[in-house]
Amino acid sequence: MLSKYSLRLPKVVYGGESPTDELAVALRREGARSVVVFTDAALHRLGLVSPVLEAIESAGATCQIVDDIPAEPTYSQVQSVVDQVRGVSTDAIVAVGGGSVMDAAKLAGVCATDAYTVHDLLADPSRAAKQLTTFMVPTTAGTGAEATPNAIVAVPEDELKVGIVNDAMIADYVVLDARMIKNLPRPIAASTGIDALCHAIECYTSAKANPFSDVFALEAFDLIVNNIEAACDDPEAMDAKRAMQVASFYAGIAITASGTTAVHALSYPLGGKYHVAHGVSNAILLSPVMHFNEPAIRERLAAAYDRAIHGDAATVEEKSAAVIERMDRIVSHLDIPKKLDELGVAGVDVDQLAAAGMTVQRLLVNNRREVTLEDARAIYAQVL
Ligand SMILES: NC(=O)c1ccc[n+]([C@@H]2O[C@H](COP(=O)([O-])OP(=O)(O)OC[C@H]3O[C@@H](n4cnc5c(N)ncnc54)[C@H](O)[C@@H]3O)[C@@H](O)[C@H]2O)c1
Ligand SMILES: [Zn+2]
Repeated sequence: MLSKYSLRLPKVVYGGESPTDELAVALRREGARSVVVFTDAALHRLGLVSPVLEAIESAGATCQIVDDIPAEPTYSQVQSVVDQVRGVSTDAIVAVGGGSVMDAAKLAGVCATDAYTVHDLLADPSRAAKQLTTFMVPTTAGTGAEATPNAIVAVPEDELKVGIVNDAMIADYVVLDARMIKNLPRPIAASTGIDALCHAIECYTSAKANPFSDVFALEAFDLIVNNIEAACDDPEAMDAKRAMQVASFYAGIAITASGTTAVHALSYPLGGKYHVAHGVSNAILLSPVMHFNEPAIRERLAAAYDRAIHGDAATVEEKSAAVIERMDRIVSHLDIPKKLDELGVAGVDVDQLAAAGMTVQRLLVNNRREVTLEDARAIYAQVL
C-alpha cells in the first residue's frame, strides 16, 4: 500500500441517455472553433461518428476527420496521424474509437506543435505538455484509455509495446454513450472486456493500490464479473453493456491512481512481437499470473470475492482460489484462446519473450510477488 497517493480525473464525464449531445455544450464552453475527429475506417463506416459530427455542427465548429488510425499502431503510424493535425489550426480533438484511436488522439493532443515527436516522448515522456483540448468517446468497453494518462504504442524495432505516461494526456472530457458499444462484435466485446477485468484485479492487487484506487478497482471488478457474459452474449442486454462501459472507465481511473502488474507487463511482448491483440494477450496470461501471485495477494483476492462473488467459499484460501477460478471460467465462456498456439503463434522463443517481458519494469515493480527471469520463463511456458 502506498503512503502517498492522488486521484487525477478528466474534467467532466457525461453518461446516461444520448450523452454525446452534451459534446456541443462542452465544445461551446471551451470556445472550440475548429475540431479534428480521430476514428478508424471501420467505425467511420459503421456510422458511429455521426452523433459526434452532429454535436460539432450544432456547436458551430468546423470539423476535419482523420480515420486512418490502425489498430494497435506503431509510434511512427501515430506520428503520421499527428502530422495531419500539425498542419491545421485546431483547438480540440475528439476521439471516437477504442484504445488505439484514443491513444493516438491523446498523443496528438500533446504533439500538435513540432517541439517534439512521438518518438521523443518514448525516450522522455516528461516532455509532454497539453496543447489541445481532448474529448474521448470510447467505442469499446475495455481499455479505460479515456481515463488514463497513458498512450500505448508498438515499437517494432524492440518487438515491444511501450506506454508513454504523462498526466498531460488525461482527457478533458469523456462521453460514455452506450450507443457506441451496442453492436460491438462478440469477440471484441469479450477481449476488451477482459482487458478491463485485468485492469481492475491487477490494480486492486497492485503494490501501488491505495484507498482511492481501491474504490474504483473493486467497483469495476464487481460490475465486470457480474455483467461481462451477458454484455457479450446478448445483443439486447443494454444494462449489462452500460455496466461494462462504466466499469472500464472506473478501471481506467484505478490504473491512473494505482497501476497494473505482471499480467500487463508480460502481455506487452506478446503484442509487440506476435501482434496478439491487447485484450487477448492479457486473457492468456491472467490465470497463470494470478496463480503465480496468489500467495502474495490472497487477502486481496478474498476481499474481491466478498465484494463480487456470492458463493459458499468460507476461508481466505477458498475465496482467493474461487476468484481465480471465476475469472478463468469467464475467459473460457467468452471463447478467448488460452494458449498462443490456438492463435497460430508457433516457434515461440520463451527465453527471448522472458527477456523482453523483464524490460517492462514500469509495471513489474507493481507486482506484489517479485517476478524473476526464471519466473517469467515459467509463466510464458504455460501459455504456449
Ligand atoms: N491508454 C491506456 O490506458 C490503454 C489501456 C489499455 C490498452 N491500451 C491500448 O489500446 C489498444 C487496444 O484498444 P481496444 O482494445 O479498445 O481495441 P482497438 O481500439 O484496437 O480496436 C480493435 C478493433 O475493434 C474495432 N471496434 C472498436 N469499436 C467498435 C465498435 N463499437 N463496433 C465495431 N468494431 C469496433 C476497431 O475498428 C478495431 O478493428 C492497444 O494498443 C492497447 O495497448 C491503452
Ligand atoms: Zn490493458
